[in-house]
Amino acid sequence: MIDFKQDFDVAPISDADVKAAGDKAVAQVLRNLPDYTYSMQNHSSVDRFYPACDNTQWTCGFWPGEVWLAYEWSGNEVFRHAAQIQVQSFLHRIENKIEVDHHDMGFLYSPTCVAAWKLVGDEDGRKAAILAAEQLISRYHSVGRFIQAWGQMGAPENYRYIIDCLLNLPLLYWASAETGDSKYADIARIHAATTLAHSIRPDHSTYHTFFMDPETGEPVRGETCQGYKDDSDWARGQAWGVYGMALSYRYDRREDYRQTFDHLLGFFLKRLPSDMVPYWDMIFTDGAEEPRDSSSAAIVACGLLEMADLVGGPEAQDYRLLARRFVGSLYQTYAVKDPSVSNGLVLHGTYSKKSPHNTCTPEGVDECVSWGDYYYLEALTRLSRNWSSYW
Ligand code: GLY
Repeated sequence: MIDFKQDFDVAPISDADVKAAGDKAVAQVLRNLPDYTYSMQNHSSVDRFYPACDNTQWTCGFWPGEVWLAYEWSGNEVFRHAAQIQVQSFLHRIENKIEVDHHDMGFLYSPTCVAAWKLVGDEDGRKAAILAAEQLISRYHSVGRFIQAWGQMGAPENYRYIIDCLLNLPLLYWASAETGDSKYADIARIHAATTLAHSIRPDHSTYHTFFMDPETGEPVRGETCQGYKDDSDWARGQAWGVYGMALSYRYDRREDYRQTFDHLLGFFLKRLPSDMVPYWDMIFTDGAEEPRDSSSAAIVACGLLEMADLVGGPEAQDYRLLARRFVGSLYQTYAVKDPSVSNGLVLHGTYSKKSPHNTCTPEGVDECVSWGDYYYLEALTRLSRNWSSYW
C-alpha cells in the first residue's frame, strides 16, 4: 500500500494557481519563440539561460512540445505556426538520419510530430513519426528481447537498455494503431516485459541501465550512467519508471503494470525530502548538500495524472491530489517567475552530475532542463482540462 498521507510540507496547487502558473509559463514560451523557431533549445540551460542548438540532441522534442502545449493553452495561432516549422525540421532529421542512431525516437517525435498530427492533422508530422517508429524498432534485439539504447548496434559494451526507454514506447503503440501493422506494438510489449523482469530491484528502486548477454540473451547486470552509483536510485530513472508504467498501462491494461506503477511510486515517495522535489539521486535525503532534480517531480506528476485518468474512483483522487502537491511545490519554489532570472520554466533540474562511481559526462547541474520545462507545462495542462495525450 502506498502511504499517501506522508508528511510533506507542501499544499496542493489550487485551480486559480494552475491558471496563473500556466499563463506565466505560456508567456515565457511566447517570449522565447523568436530565439527557437528556426533553431532548437539546448538540453539544459547555462547559468539559467538556454543556448540555441541544431536539431541534433535527444532532447530537441521537448521545446516544440512546449510550443504545442502553449497552443492548446492559449489558442494563439503563432504557436501553431512555429510548431509546424519545427515539424519540418524533424521530418528532415529522420529522412536524412541525422543523429538518430539511438532509442530516443519517442522523446523526439511524440511531443512534436505525433502532436502535430493529432492536433492539426499535419501529414508531414504523421510521416516523420512513422519513420521514427521504424528507426526505433531497428534497434530491437531478439537475443535478449530489448531495444538497445545507445551506441553501435550489437557492440558488447552497449548491449543494454535503459529504464528511460519506457517513454519511447508510446510512439510504437501509436504507429501500430496508425498503420494497422502490429510489429511496432509487439516490440513495445516485449521491451516493457524485459524492463519489468530486470530493471526493478526487490525494494522497488530501479537500475538505470541493464546489460544483456549478446550470445545467450540472459540478463547480466544493472549499471548506472547518470545515477550516483550502480546500486543507488537515480531520481529521474525512477520517475521515468513511474510515468512509463502509467503509459504502458494505457495501452495494455495489465495488472503487473498497474502494480509496478504503485511500487515505483511508493519508493519515490519514501525517498523525497519534505518539499517533494528529489535530490538528483535518491541516496540523498533532507539536508544533503546536493542539487535537486526538479524535472523528476514534474515527470511523476504527469504519471500520476495519466494513471488517475485510467483508473478512476477513489484511487484517482489520491493520485490527483498527490500530483497537485508536486506541482504546487514546483510552482511555489522552483518555477521561474521573473524572465530576467531565466528563460526556462523551472529551475533546479539536473541533467547529469558526475560522481566517483558513474560514467556520465557532467552537464546541466542545477539548471533548467528542457524536459523539466515540458513536463511541468504538461502537468499544468492536464490539471486545467481533459487533455488528449501526445504520448
Ligand atoms: N534520458 C536521459 C535523461 O533522462 O537524462
